[in-house]
This record gives sequence, structure tokens and C-alpha cells, in this order.
Amino acid sequence: MGRVTNFNPLCVLLPLFIVLAATATAQANLFLPRPRIGYYGSACWNVESIVRSVVRSNYFANPANAPGILRMHFHDCFVRGCDGSVLLDGPNSERTAIPNLSLRGFNVIEEAKTQLEIACPRTVSCADILALAARDFVVLTGGPWWAVPLGRLDGRVSLASDVDLPGPTDSVAVQKQRFAAKNLNTQDLVVLAAGHTIGTAGCGVFRNRFFNYNNTGSPDPTINPSFVPQIQAQCPLNGNAAARVALDTGSEGQFDTSYLNNLRFGRGVLESDQVLWTNPETRPIVERLLGLRFPFLLFGSEFARSMYKMSLIEVKTGLDGEIRRVCSAVN
Ligand code: HEM
Repeated sequence: MGRVTNFNPLCVLLPLFIVLAATATAQANLFLPRPRIGYYGSACWNVESIVRSVVRSNYFANPANAPGILRMHFHDCFVRGCDGSVLLDGPNSERTAIPNLSLRGFNVIEEAKTQLEIACPRTVSCADILALAARDFVVLTGGPWWAVPLGRLDGRVSLASDVDLPGPTDSVAVQKQRFAAKNLNTQDLVVLAAGHTIGTAGCGVFRNRFFNYNNTGSPDPTINPSFVPQIQAQCPLNGNAAARVALDTGSEGQFDTSYLNNLRFGRGVLESDQVLWTNPETRPIVERLLGLRFPFLLFGSEFARSMYKMSLIEVKTGLDGEIRRVCSAVN
């Protein structure tokens, strides 16, 4: 007996429809505006000078805003892309996740937003303001300037459960994997981690490493022995976990290669920093940045290049997002 086959036209038409729809979306995406330098043009010709002046006044009022905003930009870009999701307030928003509890400088971004809403209403995204402010703060600490591509839209979703950032005890393998997931390579990892040339960390984050590393009862053996009592004095075992210590001992407010040099001498504060020197793949990059190995890398220009890349992670355009009226809430 011959088999009876029921031909269902949907079996052919559905896949065809899916292919056509995907092609149409891909083509439409080609025409969506991509972030680019000079994006706002006459729609907000003074966007850069407004952000710069807000950044300047806040830097001189409190220089700790500089590391605060640089880190905030990183935390924004690594979670749902550079879409200002880290700025949204709310019960289960990204801001409530543990790594974000110590972020600082939200008021700076909001102040710039308020001024921009007066100068060019509903035009400049909070994600763009954060990217510009991070660059401007870096410049004020002695770091490089780079042109920031603009045109990111603000996201409408911010969930604490999405926050899965590199941690202070991550190995190089794990850090590499997390950066690769954002299309950043091993050099980007080393160069961007060297953003720790400015700023501080809370004692609670790394104290174990200086007293009882991995429950050994002793400090991490990769720490320079002369550095151990120095940090132990700043972060006593039962002292305030929120007390803050420079990530780049001796040069915390200055954007320079001193952080990398500290790694070379076992003076990294975080384990995730020190392993960049002990690991055979990342050490040569540190050496090149320090001018100890050919071909040399210039820290300033490499930092600018990697920041540019980071600032374009999974950016939203078209119908993906919006221009918020205030940075702490969706419209
Ligand atoms: C590579 C993986 C990274 C890890 C594991 C890491 C981890 C940390 C930790 C644990 C702190 C201290 C937080 C606190 O106690 O408040 C910190 C601070 C900081 N991080 Fe990172 N970070 C990484 C990458 C980056 C990147 C890519 C940047 C920016 C380009 C950055 C910029 C900063 C800054 C500026 C601070 C100081 C913040 C302040 O003083 O308020 N970090 N980081």
C-alpha cells in the first residue's frame, strides 16, 4: 500500500516568511543611524561643552567623581550594552546589584541631563552623556582625549539579575572570557583594567587576600611582603569594610602607568589585577605598556582606543530605545 502524505503548505511558507522577515530586518538595520562622531550636529551643537562644564565643576568639587563615572560607564556597557540601564532607579534595577552599590556620581549625569534638556530638549541620551562624561573625567585626571561616537539610545530595562560583571577574584581565563563575550580582546582587558590607575576599592572587597588568602591563614604569596602590612594597616581585619584604599598606591588620582608598575612589584590590590602580571599571556602586554618589551604600547592611546571599543558594546538604535527625560527613570 502506498503511503499517504499530507502536504501542509505552512511547512514551506513559514520558513520562507521567516527568511524574508530576517532579511528585511537586516536591511532595515543597515539604514538605522549608527553611533558616530558628531551625531547630534545642529540638533544639539553644544552637547560636548555642556557635559564638559558639568564634569569640570564636579571634578573640582569632588575628584572621586572621576573614577566613579569611569567605572559606571564600564558597568553600563557590560550589562545590556551602553544604554544607560545602570542609571535607572527602582526596586530591582541594576543599581541595586551588589557591584553597583558602590558606584558614585549619578548626580553628575543627572545634572548634565537637566542642563541638556534645557538646551536641546529630548535630544541627548543618558547613555551618551555617560560616555562623554567618562572621557572628560579621564582627561581631567591626566589621561587621553578621544572622540566619542554618539547616538546611543537609552534602554528601558534594568534588572539586578542581569548584573554579571567581572569580579575581584576572577582569574585571567575568566576575565578574558567575560571580555571576549563583549568582543574585547586580551589587550583591551589589560588596558581597560588599567583604568584602576584612578580610584579606590572598599576594604571588604579584597581584605581576605591580605590576611587569609583562600583560607590559608596567610596573605596571597604573590603580594610583595612589604606591601602586606601597609594594606593591613589601612584595612584592619575587623575594621570598616567600607573604608577605601587606592587601587594604584601612591598615584590614585593621576591617570598614568603607575598602576601597571605596581603590578610589576607585587603591589596590586585586587587579585584580578595582580594576576595580569603573574599570567604569562597578560604579562607581556603589561611589559609593553611599561616600555619594558618591544614593540612598545603607549598606554594613553591604547586606553583611548579600547574605551572607544567598549563604548560601542551592544548599543541601541532605531526602535530599541528612547531618549529619557531624566536619567533615573524611563519615559
Ligand atoms: C577587568 C575586570 C575588572 C574587575 C574585576 C574590576 C573590579 C573592581 C573592583 C572590585 C573595584 C572596587 C569597587 C569598590 O570596592 O567600590 C573596582 C573599582 C574601579 N574600577 Fe574596576 N574592575 C574591572 C575592570 C574595570 C574597567 C574595565 C574599568 C574602566 C575602564 C574599571 C574602572 C574602575 C574604577 C575607575 C574603579 C574605582 C571606582 C571608584 O573609586 O569609585 N574597572 N573595580
